[in-house]
Amino acid sequence: MATQAKPDLTSGAPDHGARHVAIIMDGNGRWAKKRFLPRIAGHRAGVEAVRRVARAAQDMGLECLTLYAFSSENWKRPASEVADLMGLLRHFIQSDIDEFHANGVRLRVVGHYQALDPSLVALIEGAMERTAGNRGPIIAIALNYGAQDELVRMARMLACRVQAGEIKAEEIGLAEVEGALYTADLPPLDLMIRTSGEQRLSNFMLWQAAYAELYFTDTLWPDFDACALAAALDAFRLRDRRFGGL
Ligand code: IPE
Ligand code: IPE
Ligand code: MG
Repeated sequence: MATQAKPDLTSGAPDHGARHVAIIMDGNGRWAKKRFLPRIAGHRAGVEAVRRVARAAQDMGLECLTLYAFSSENWKRPASEVADLMGLLRHFIQSDIDEFHANGVRLRVVGHYQALDPSLVALIEGAMERTAGNRGPIIAIALNYGAQDELVRMARMLACRVQAGEIKAEEIGLAEVEGALYTADLPPLDLMIRTSGEQRLSNFMLWQAAYAELYFTDTLWPDFDACALAAALDAFRLRDRRFGGL
């Protein structure tokens, strides 16, 4: 059996080479079910994992960590679960924003968050404004995010610019498309992790994942920790990224 090198958690230097890691945080419900607990218990444990992994990402020198917290399709869940998730999110921002700010983190939200409850929108915008001038890593939370919705919005935005005479249709290139995405000012995506054994993107960062490395682990999100992130970055370091070249 191949022996796996132990991940090095002591070095702050980012020798893994990844700037931007995105995580599809999946498996909260199954984690709870295994313990005969209600799904909300899994989501609560999932918030603890967010705290752990956000700290680890800073320690490991990532420039940006994007976390898929609520998809544009998650509205299909029972209203009580949606309410629980929104409540946890509200509590998370309220309780953790001081620590993020003290650590120089820039908090960002990607997705159509404006459709959430107005008081939550105000909380999100306050947190983003407060931390916008920080110089540390970006923690981006994907909320009411759907990549297909993002691409539709991008098309509409560029069509409006053409209609207004700001640019010509033939001037639209990669930079214009990327500038019209939620992720416009985030670094290019290097690594996409999905927990819980599922191997699909579930409408997450379809454009951005074009040349990202994909990493799937059976670990359920509430069990994910610094060691698990280090293992993913170790695997990433060994990948041969060719971008279509040789
Ligand atoms: C991920 O865990 C959290 C969200 C999608 C909000 P799930 O709630 O999808 O957990 P499973 O997939 O049912 O185990
Ligand atoms: C993806 O997980 C969305 C988030 C992690 C927020 P889901 O649990 O919603 O994905 P599917 O339904 O299994 O594809
Ligand atoms: Mg799931």
